[in-house]
Amino acid sequence: MAIPEPRNRYQIMILYPITGFAPVARNSEIGYYPGMRQLIVGNWKMNGLKAESLARASEFRAFAEAEKPACDLLVCPPATLVEAVAKALAGSAIAVGGQDCHTEDKGAFTGDIAAAMVGDLGCRYVIVGHSERRRDHGENDTRVGAKATAAHRAGLMAIVCLGESAAERDAGRAETVVAAQLEGSWPQGGSPANTVVAYEPVWAIGTGRTPTVAEIAAIHGLMRTLIVARLGSDGHAVRLLYGGSVGPRNAAEILAIPNVDGALVGGASLKIEDFAAIARSCQAR
Ligand code: 13P
Repeated sequence: MAIPEPRNRYQIMILYPITGFAPVARNSEIGYYPGMRQLIVGNWKMNGLKAESLARASEFRAFAEAEKPACDLLVCPPATLVEAVAKALAGSAIAVGGQDCHTEDKGAFTGDIAAAMVGDLGCRYVIVGHSERRRDHGENDTRVGAKATAAHRAGLMAIVCLGESAAERDAGRAETVVAAQLEGSWPQGGSPANTVVAYEPVWAIGTGRTPTVAEIAAIHGLMRTLIVARLGSDGHAVRLLYGGSVGPRNAAEILAIPNVDGALVGGASLKIEDFAAIARSCQAR
């Protein structure tokens, strides 16, 4: 017998009362994949020494244990602190990730870190292709895709970042640029089980400026369409994050946008009050 496909959240509750999770569903109809929790990622970037970072990790842990927010939580500390933070958060609901990895598994790459090394420190995720790396280290789409593939080889979930510059948006090219970056950076074998995509418009990072709700919805809808074209119905289950000046004041509005399955947070992830407020703004699914 064919499994009936639910058409809205009430039918999902009736058809799949135990798991609340439907095997096939359309984000386009209800705005999200049933059962997929939103993911809030704190990218600590190049901030913090050991003492303050461990103090922050223990505040995050206390928050997660006390409030059990309705989303998945991840923090990505600087490489020097990943192991200590992973130990501090071990057994908690907060996962730990790296901020970058190399395309190769090992070798003569002074100063670089292989994906397996990131995993060895206790990480399950790694960010690749952040615009600060694309800008400062000349990383192009091909390299970003290769990094994501390297992450997969090491058993890590790759968070692939992309987003247009201010000039590209002003020229009306945001959608064209994002589509090209997604196609160019998408890793071979990418799937909902190993890949998250983060849309971070460069001009919104650290500026306090964000795209409008309609602009975010348009880009996320486009990314969903492209991923579904590639993966078929599995593409509905790939998490798409928004990043760029997410904070307590705009998180609820952004996290309610269809096809926004979480947020990648920079500055506001350095303060427990802000990170907690963003996590509390998640949509329970
Ligand atoms: P801000 O939240 O500080 O704008 O940074 C966003 C970001 O780059 C997260 O990766």
